[in-house]
Amino acid sequence: MSGISDLRIRVAHRGDIPEILDFWAEAGENRDRPPDGAALVEALLSRDPEALIVADSGGRIVGTVIAGWDGWRAHLYRLAVAPGLRGRGIARLLMEHAEERLRALGAIRFDAMVLTSNATGTAVWEAMGYRLQDDWARWVKPVP
Ligand SMILES: CC(C)(COP(=O)(O)OP(=O)(O)OC[C@H]1O[C@@H](n2cnc3c(N)ncnc32)[C@H](O)[C@@H]1OP(=O)(O)O)[C@@H](O)C(=O)NCCC(=O)NCCS
Repeated sequence: MSGISDLRIRVAHRGDIPEILDFWAEAGENRDRPPDGAALVEALLSRDPEALIVADSGGRIVGTVIAGWDGWRAHLYRLAVAPGLRGRGIARLLMEHAEERLRALGAIRFDAMVLTSNATGTAVWEAMGYRLQDDWARWVKPVP
């Protein structure tokens, strides 16, 4: 458990977007992905208002995860916790909420993309019961 008395897990609202972007710039896994922007997060919340889950401590965002559901697959993105509050169970709490949401929507499997160089990320997903699927590779094509 986090030991942070005023910690609560809630869905993000439009008004949180500027703070979330700042938070990701500081706390996220930011290598090798397109830049974030308010319009992108607004589009996510318009399409699925409950997809972006935050850990809120006294009105300050200290953790995030996106629990994406497209009706077919369940994908987890942007798991991040404030550097000064890591190792206190906040990611686990976020993931419990994210998995519960996805399970309720009908998911039968959860998946996440993790940079192979991210040793902490790898250890954390393993600790949460995820296993590397090494017989598949990600194929991408940037939108022209
Ligand atoms: C990954 C991250 C979100 C973990 O957040 P956290 O709040 O510190 O994680 P928790 O304290 O909830 O720990 C969850 C589990 O992972 C384990 N864990 C946490 N940090 C770890 C570390 N550095 N090394 C090994 N295991 C670790 C914990 O032991 C815990 O397992 P347990 O409950 O069985 O003991 C955080 O380190 C972070 O924001 N990193 C930068 C962003 C990032 O890389 N995100 C992952 C992208 S794929």
